[in-house]
Amino acid sequence: MKIGMLTGGGDCPGLNAVIRAVVRKGFFHYHDEFVGFLEGWRGLIDDMSMSVDLDTVSGILPRGGTILRTSRTNPSKRTDGIDRCIATLGKHKVEALVAIGGDDTLSVAQKLHEKGIKVVGVPKTIDNDLGGTDYTFGFDTACNVVCEAIDRVHTTAEAHNRVMVVEVMGRDAGWIALYSGIAGGADVILIPERPFDVDKVAESIRQRHERGRYFSIIVVAEGAKFSSDSGNGAPILQDMGKDEFGHAKLGGIANILAREIEKRTGFETRAVVLGHIQRGGSPSAFDRVLATRYGLGAIDMVHRSEFGCMAALRANKIVSIPLKEAIARNRTVDDEMIEIAEGLFEEVGVKEAASK
Ligand code: F6P
Repeated sequence: MKIGMLTGGGDCPGLNAVIRAVVRKGFFHYHDEFVGFLEGWRGLIDDMSMSVDLDTVSGILPRGGTILRTSRTNPSKRTDGIDRCIATLGKHKVEALVAIGGDDTLSVAQKLHEKGIKVVGVPKTIDNDLGGTDYTFGFDTACNVVCEAIDRVHTTAEAHNRVMVVEVMGRDAGWIALYSGIAGGADVILIPERPFDVDKVAESIRQRHERGRYFSIIVVAEGAKFSSDSGNGAPILQDMGKDEFGHAKLGGIANILAREIEKRTGFETRAVVLGHIQRGGSPSAFDRVLATRYGLGAIDMVHRSEFGCMAALRANKIVSIPLKEAIARNRTVDDEMIEIAEGLFEEVGVKEAASK
């Protein structure tokens, strides 16, 4: 078969591992040929492509980013965007498309499926908030990056008796904040799922200092919100811009929170915004294996004609689920996971960790 591939949305380590797995199994087991469309859906709208074969994917397993590049282009926002995608697939005689992306990318894949295009999705986001799958690749690598950063921030916080506020990615879900906060031994974890009262956060830091712990680490997700009694309950935006899928640019909560903590406690407080280093660099071993398994699952799904579906990880098995189910809702941090974290903390988001 001739198979098209694209990577859409925010990049993350592991994308190249997916591409490599699809091509290797497709070549060795199914004698497929491949064409890569560049920069997400833009590659189909504007017919930007490259041939992809065994040589193309040789040596890309450990490389971050994506050899096909990516974008947040939304065909539904472009004149005849969906039809131009379909025309480009026809021009290249593509028999099936593998779309690797998050809920935005896969929502476009669903639209193409509804128009009769044979498409299989692969879930990707460092946020780990895609419905229908237990883990997305990119998440483990991001957590490792954040955990290492927290370890580094720990020593300087202790040296200066400071409160350090570390801002991590996570628009709608606090998976990165929660996992890396636990792994890094943070004293407070603030996630979008639980709006927080800044006075209670300040009080918990004060209580910790009264117990002789003169430094603290707060991990806050960029999408976390001040509760209505200590703010307007809205996420903090970098600016009023929105991408083509309507997402605002979040960022800046750490600086505001640091200022508010210092104002209330009198303790020196600094903010660290980790930003896109969470998305860069080489994938972890876990993500290389998970991404490879997703790619192998996707190419098998193509040859089982399981179109309009996404490869998903369920209880450590790669299964096939309808795209509709995957994009129906975000997978936010569930109460069970929050209760696990509360085993260390009196309450995720407002109370400090038990004395360490
Ligand atoms: O969707 C993943 C993500 O990394 C979010 O955590 C973050 O808010 C967003 O992408 C940043 O998007 P961009 O790279 O387009 O600024």
